[in-house]
Amino acid sequence: MRINSPKLNIMYKACMKASKSLIRDFGEIEKLQVSTKGPGDFVSSADKRTEKIIIEELLKAQPDYGILSEEAGFINEKNKNNRWIVDPIDGTSNFLNGIPQFSISIGYEEENKLKTGIIYDPIKNELFFAETGNGSFLNNSRIRVSKKNKLINSIIGTGGPRSESKYKNEILQEYSNISKYVNIPLRKYGSASLDLANVACGRFDGFWQRELSYWDVAAGIVIIKEAGGFVDFIEKEDLQSKKMNLVASNSLIHKELIDLISKKNIEKN
Ligand code: IPD
Ligand code: CA
Ligand code: CA
Repeated sequence: MRINSPKLNIMYKACMKASKSLIRDFGEIEKLQVSTKGPGDFVSSADKRTEKIIIEELLKAQPDYGILSEEAGFINEKNKNNRWIVDPIDGTSNFLNGIPQFSISIGYEEENKLKTGIIYDPIKNELFFAETGNGSFLNNSRIRVSKKNKLINSIIGTGGPRSESKYKNEILQEYSNISKYVNIPLRKYGSASLDLANVACGRFDGFWQRELSYWDVAAGIVIIKEAGGFVDFIEKEDLQSKKMNLVASNSLIHKELIDLISKKNIEKN
């Protein structure tokens, strides 16, 4: 890695150690124990194993730091000054079906502000990382968002809705509006962190999704911003349910994308 940052080194080590176990599990998915957290929301022994390794490594390096991790919840909850945000497998449904599109995602917050992010795709061996003020990187190369300035010509990613979503119809309406507008069909890859990484390195020009969790997006937010992109949240009242409605883009198409999303349920085409 090109950035010599103590925080990134801790995150990198945790990620690499956990990814070895993750790859082993991916080779033997039929042996994994799987349970459901809700309709279409699975957790496997691989999620738990990966998470355990990451948490152990993070605590070994910084025993007092707070952690918010998808399956384990809060650790050292009182420490709000230094906190890791962990998604041990982002893209569990892909993973469990043998689809090679998932990641380990770790963000780091200082005084409630996101500072550092790392997203590792162990299948492609792609490590996306960034630290505030130092730019974004994919493996050893600096990355930047795309330069497209018209939504109509853009490649846009999205995800959801979950089957139990209260807003399912609205989300599908929104999908339909944007899908009708853009020339290139929407992408739906099933790992929000990698979707954000794709925006950061210019493969996607934009991405939006409702009802995401903080661990899905914490690392990606830093990586996109440091790559010159823009991240926004729509309809903030939904944050009360701790779900995030996120729009991310190369910044040049941002207004067009937000405008089209906000038009959604009101003006039906
Ligand atoms: C999911 C993925 C997916 C997104 C879901 C997330 P998980 O995370 O990021 O792309 O559509 O909303 O929950 O459950 O695989 O960690
Ligand atoms: Ca996730
Ligand atoms: Ca997960």
